[in-house]
Amino acid sequence: MSRTKFIAGNWKMNTTPTEAAALAADVAAAVKDVNGVDVAVCPPYTNIAAVAAAIKGTNVQLGAQNVHVVEKDGKIVTSGAYTGEIAPGMLKDAGVAWVILGHSERRQYFGETDAGVNLKIRACFEAGLLPIICVGETLEQRESGITVKVVEEQVRGAYANIPAAQAAKTVIAYEPVWAIGTGKTASPEQAQEVHAQIRALLTTLYDAPTAQAIRIQYGGSMNAKNAAELLSQPDIDGGLIGGAALKAADFAVIVKAGAK
Ligand code: 13P
Repeated sequence: MSRTKFIAGNWKMNTTPTEAAALAADVAAAVKDVNGVDVAVCPPYTNIAAVAAAIKGTNVQLGAQNVHVVEKDGKIVTSGAYTGEIAPGMLKDAGVAWVILGHSERRQYFGETDAGVNLKIRACFEAGLLPIICVGETLEQRESGITVKVVEEQVRGAYANIPAAQAAKTVIAYEPVWAIGTGKTASPEQAQEVHAQIRALLTTLYDAPTAQAIRIQYGGSMNAKNAAELLSQPDIDGGLIGGAALKAADFAVIVKAGAK
């Protein structure tokens, strides 16, 4: 099965609304003639409106970096007294299509758990948003030989009770923590090995067609130089790009590598 590659920029806590609008416009201009690849940018919440306006009518989609969800009496609460938080419906109405969930920075600094990610996936589908679910091991975990175990646990936790029809529409981002923002990329073989293991697990959790439909992005120091080789691996279906997504020209090179 051939999966359309998906290149998404995670801008993290970077850009003001003014800078975000300019960067989004530059990205849209740089990739406007590129076909056969899906592209998204994920700015901070405050910049979503500005970016939505800048990419209107282009082939660039909009993503957010998180969402807040509360469950009460088995029902998902999507508004209320949660000062400082943003609900799925708010993102949807603002033009957001994708939401990054369970990024390692959120797991590390904000106590994000697999159960929390699972709840957020359910809430995203209720609101008409699609999740990009981040998983990945730390250096210590890799060195102690438990990469597969860690990633499996994250995938199982995220997908608990998510039906196959929804699962098929999700995207996973395999982001080894030791490769994020470090300039140390996983080798194409290292990444491919884990991607194939994730897909094998998805096959047992669901079935082969569902597992084949789920796109698995690689993230972690992916850049204009190393993207093509990573993206040539059979189970690497795109990239979740941090630093290199903040330069329109570099991001465009990665998008073009995904179109091949
Ligand atoms: P870098 O590309 O800066 O390593 O970040 C990757 C990442 O965390 C994307 O979500």
